[in-house]
Amino acid sequence: MNIAIIGSGYVGLVTGACFAHLGHQVLCVDNDPKKIECLRKGRSPIYEPGLEEMIRENVREGRLRFSLSTAQAVRECELLFICVNTPPKENGEADLSYIENVSREVAKNLKSYRLIIEKSTVPVQTGEWIQKTIRANKVKAALFDVASNPEFLREGSAIHDLLKPDRVILGVSSAKAEKILRKLYEPFKVPLVVTNLASAELIKHASNSFLATKISFINMLARICDVAGADIEQVAKGMGLDPRIGPSFLKAGIGFGGFCFPKDLSAFLSMSERLGQRFGLLKEVLDINETQKLYFVRKVESAVWNLRGKTLGILGLAFKPDTDDMRFAPSLDIIQALQKEDVKIQAYDPQAMERAKAVLSGVRYVKDPYAAARGADALLILTEWSEFLALDFKRIKKLMRHPLIFDGRNMYNPRDLKRLGFEYHGMGRGMEKV
Ligand code: UDX
Repeated sequence: MNIAIIGSGYVGLVTGACFAHLGHQVLCVDNDPKKIECLRKGRSPIYEPGLEEMIRENVREGRLRFSLSTAQAVRECELLFICVNTPPKENGEADLSYIENVSREVAKNLKSYRLIIEKSTVPVQTGEWIQKTIRANKVKAALFDVASNPEFLREGSAIHDLLKPDRVILGVSSAKAEKILRKLYEPFKVPLVVTNLASAELIKHASNSFLATKISFINMLARICDVAGADIEQVAKGMGLDPRIGPSFLKAGIGFGGFCFPKDLSAFLSMSERLGQRFGLLKEVLDINETQKLYFVRKVESAVWNLRGKTLGILGLAFKPDTDDMRFAPSLDIIQALQKEDVKIQAYDPQAMERAKAVLSGVRYVKDPYAAARGADALLILTEWSEFLALDFKRIKKLMRHPLIFDGRNMYNPRDLKRLGFEYHGMGRGMEKV
């Protein structure tokens, strides 16, 4: 099939590269000339394991091309995936102006049937707005369909998630659109949920909100474990063995980040208000997530007595491992709160330091975990990179001024570290006191 991807950001590039990998002809469009130039040279502007190799291979095989022109995409491709970003506005609503611009641009160039598929995460009813916008440009209804095919890509495993999804959601408004999308996705041999546009849009927001709810639930429970002398890891295990609850997304820590959860939750909350149904539960989920970071800072403070003048080593800055993404990373709020107390920060992250430098000043970025530990009054783990599991803690202990570990991601076995002479503080591991 001839597929155009309009918006070559994270979702667009992964989608485009994977469809090309599956043998389709793909044209990725973006209005950023620098990005297109970089892609044409076979380089990925974002870090995602396997993506650059996949882009290069498909460019070489002639299945993947890049362009600045949406008009070219509409001329050459029957399937147009809209993957532009929908950034949050001040009030939490999603800014849909890029989607509107693309819809107008598509409408201006539409000469024969095209299927326009929204893949960006959008509030319910956006598909309807795209339809209206295109019709308002005097395009006949028979010349196009709008469909919704939300993505569920996790950063760090996006290629796997696209090629081997748990399910594919197809929101369609005509039999023709359904037929085209079934043809595209049936080779994946995974459950297809074929429904209307609004349901497909809601599935995306509801899924992310539900997952975030699980995380805030377990984080609040972790605070209770801290004071009650319970172990959140065991509590989560005991809960997760109930198949109605399930074990995933019950990992307590310093809160969720990334460009999806915080933004999607706020957008869903605003949308529900607009629809006259205030979804207060989501407000609480967001509030718990915000206060979880400060809870961690207070935990550090109560163990070191005064923060002022202390030196803290930080391991991990990215919002989660295997990505260099710093957007809404809990490390940002935590480090800024510590800096307000005049704490000296020396930080290490395997991938995210370049991006961190752009948003976090006053931090000494160091070349490895040992340099972060050198002379530190405490070591704070903010991202659970697997390389931090293999650290030489005997060496770390010698390097630190005080052997204090604040494990914001519950990576380590408290007993192992205590045996080595560390004072260990996890999240919700109140049994440490017993
Ligand atoms: C998420 C969704 O998983 C994906 O389906 C959607 O399309 C985009 O948003 P992503 O943002 O890449 O993907 O990250 P994810 O792996 O889901 O983690 C999100 C955040 O939650 C991270 O900050 C992570 O550290 C945190 N998290 C996750 C927890 O704190 N505990 C958990 O148990 C799981």
